Amino acid sequence: MATASEHVLPPNEDDARWAGLSRAELEAYWMPFSGNRQFKDDPRMIVGAHDCYLRSADGRDILDTLSGLWCCSFGHGRSEIAEAIGRCAKELAYSPPFQFGHPMAFQLANRVRELTPDGLDHVFFTNSGSESADTALKMAKAYWRLKGRPEKTRMIGRIKGYHGVNVGGTSVGGIVGNRKHFGSLMESDHLSATLLPENRFSRGTPEHGVHLADQLEELVGLHDASNIAAVVVEPMSGSAGVIVPPAGYLKRLREICDKHDILLVFDEVLTGFGRTGSDFGATLFGVTPDIMTLAKNITNGAVPMGAVVSSAEIYRTFMDNGGPDYVPEFPHGYTYSAHPIACAAGLAAMDIFEHDRMAERAGAMAPYFEEQVHQLKGLRHIVDIRNLGMAAAIQLEPHPREATRRPFEIAMRCWEKGMYVRFAADTIQLGPPFIVEREQVDQMCNILADVIPTID
Ligand SMILES: Cc1ncc(COP(=O)(O)O)c(C=O)c1O
Repeated sequence: MATASEHVLPPNEDDARWAGLSRAELEAYWMPFSGNRQFKDDPRMIVGAHDCYLRSADGRDILDTLSGLWCCSFGHGRSEIAEAIGRCAKELAYSPPFQFGHPMAFQLANRVRELTPDGLDHVFFTNSGSESADTALKMAKAYWRLKGRPEKTRMIGRIKGYHGVNVGGTSVGGIVGNRKHFGSLMESDHLSATLLPENRFSRGTPEHGVHLADQLEELVGLHDASNIAAVVVEPMSGSAGVIVPPAGYLKRLREICDKHDILLVFDEVLTGFGRTGSDFGATLFGVTPDIMTLAKNITNGAVPMGAVVSSAEIYRTFMDNGGPDYVPEFPHGYTYSAHPIACAAGLAAMDIFEHDRMAERAGAMAPYFEEQVHQLKGLRHIVDIRNLGMAAAIQLEPHPREATRRPFEIAMRCWEKGMYVRFAADTIQLGPPFIVEREQVDQMCNILADVIPTID
């Protein structure tokens, strides 16, 4: 069995891709959202990362076109974050978060509050986007109970939405492959996805589809608003392949929620901190939710962390109805809520976000990125290209026998050519770090243009 230090440096050139591990040694780790059998026969090991590159075990700099998993958007290997983590690990590697606190949690909450739209004022920390989603759902249910309306429990998500993998998020989520294995979880309804054939190859916000928001009225007609707690949507669906809301859609949802006393939750785990070219999707679309969920860029992916940001009204409702002041107003939280190392990483990441004007940088590169990605239109298999800010997806016609095979094969050939792309269902997804240069955008699109037509 190899020791930890041997894992990083392969023993010889032939074996380099395996990073010194035997096939048998790969079995213990059950990889998430991965074809374990295929990976373990053909490993793609990553042993380092800097700027817009991942370093493979066989010694190549691999262009990272997805900021890890949409989370290292300010570039890999930021030394400011590494130093903050190192300092904190020595001084305060852990602090109990229930009924006791540490200053960095409060400092980071203030930084997040200052950045999020006015009215979103109170930050509850979690350790992931999935935990943020489930926290938001519990917060919404408990809020209505405190308001004396305990029957307002039903949740409404959207088809093709992604809110992580916990029970609540899977339930309001709308990606069939993530739901079908798990039977019935939490009762919820779904609005239609906003993918319409007439919007194919739209650049940025598509024109058609505002009417799809009116389905919320239909669900109110079916269940009555007195039973509905919240509507949960991503301002831009990322994991289903960059589905950008039609013009006016989010505003319309907000109006219907206001009319019927339904909370609006924006899942900004992926869009938060610059991905759309604005600080948040809410900022870009000019629509403020009652609750916003965050994760990913909050630490630039360096330490797991998530956050749920609530309106003052929601927070006050919990405080005003909390019973004796030493009793938890919201009986919810995690051993690692506001973990000091995550907070230290978060504060350093927020410094980078603000000082390096990351959202502006993303916004400045976005038109070039859009232009280059849309140049791929017309290539074999491509049936749609969608984009917003520094996010884009290329949708492929599914293979007649194996619907998801083409994106997988494209991603494998890209890896051979020195590029990491995310493939999911029938899409290739692009979300490079905001520090990406034009030449790297060109390289990304050139490799895709070379590879895509060669796939069956
Ligand atoms: C919009 C959205 N919500 C939730 C999640 C889940 O986050 P995590 O994987 O950190 O649990 C993701 C992850 O991609 C996401 O994009």
